Amino acid sequence: MGKLQKKPAYNVAVAGATGAVGDTFLKILEERNFPIAELKLLASARSAGKKLRFRGKEYVVEEMTHDSFGGVDIALFSAGGSRSLEFAPSAVKAGAVVIDNSSAFRMEKDVPLVVPEVNPEDAFTHKGIIANPNCTTIIMLVPLKPLHDYAGIKRVIVSSYQSTSGAGAMAMEELKSQTKAWVKGEPINVEHFAHQILFNVIPHVDSFTDNWYTKEEMKMYNETRKMLHSDTISVSATCVRVPVLTAHSESVFIETERKISREKAMELLSSAPGVKLADDPGNKTYPMPIDAAGQDLCLVGRIREDISCDNGLSFWVSGDQLRKGAATNAVQIAELLIK
Ligand SMILES: NC(=O)c1ccc[n+]([C@@H]2O[C@H](COP(=O)([O-])OP(=O)(O)OC[C@H]3O[C@@H](n4cnc5c(N)ncnc54)[C@H](OP(=O)(O)O)[C@@H]3O)[C@@H](O)[C@H]2O)c1
Repeated sequence: MGKLQKKPAYNVAVAGATGAVGDTFLKILEERNFPIAELKLLASARSAGKKLRFRGKEYVVEEMTHDSFGGVDIALFSAGGSRSLEFAPSAVKAGAVVIDNSSAFRMEKDVPLVVPEVNPEDAFTHKGIIANPNCTTIIMLVPLKPLHDYAGIKRVIVSSYQSTSGAGAMAMEELKSQTKAWVKGEPINVEHFAHQILFNVIPHVDSFTDNWYTKEEMKMYNETRKMLHSDTISVSATCVRVPVLTAHSESVFIETERKISREKAMELLSSAPGVKLADDPGNKTYPMPIDAAGQDLCLVGRIREDISCDNGLSFWVSGDQLRKGAATNAVQIAELLIK
């Protein structure tokens, strides 16, 4: 199917428009001036009738049904995996290209999994659905790609420090409400996370699998291999939820075929698309979620040759997972299709 037919503007649907990613989609489409003829905002029956603003105009949210996609060119899905499985085929049948933020189709053979800075060419192999990778994987892969091209990555060991908005709008609210309750000396309610997230870190993101890794950790393993077209790179991830509102951070170690010095890594990363170096530790400059939130670049710093093996490099990356980890990446894919 490849590129979309050239038009001055496209009909776009946002499925899950009222959620954390949906809200970010509206910001990004507006900021990047995406050429939109008609915009359709879809969510559950709970939100039908709600009004959202886009480019200064009010749009009424509609309940998503199988008939929602007539005339739609591009459907941006962020309504959860089961809704993608149920409704994305109807959108494709109606003639739309679906760019899906959930994990529902990511590992399907016929569904390209794309980060435009990493494997843009894969986008054009789609058969109606393109998957947006897991947010933690996107933020790691943007800096890994130039290092892999130069030195050949053999192994990755990564620990994530994932913000609460990564689990959705309501989960982010839980950190705020626990903070307010603590200030007032009231009991702290736990609903969205396995434990209290305020003043805590929880080494548990998504559900556990048979090998004792979580699904989130296995996404990092499987999706990295798929996007780098490698069945030899091994990735061991430990994913951890931290009391941050927005932007994920990751401590990344790579072992490569060829040695990369700190200087070479700095040179490669300083010109890599989607990366901004924040590496001047003497002046207290390193990536932090507070700086990564609200912008689209993956901030990379704390770059050092690893002292535990010959060809090892360690670094720290922070990126806004609602933007580059979800909405921005999906809109960049849409931009590839209409170029
Ligand atoms: N949060 C992140 O950082 C992030 C990053 C990458 C990918 N993702 C993925 O993006 C998806 C959405 O995540 P989120 O964080 O935005 O979640 P969220 O804040 O909980 O939002 C979920 C959205 O899905 C809608 N929805 C729920 N049930 C529905 C139904 N039956 N029919 C139609 N719409 C329905 C909700 O509408 P109502 O308001 O009507 O309930 C809401 O708009 C998930 O698959 C998630 O894994 C999230």
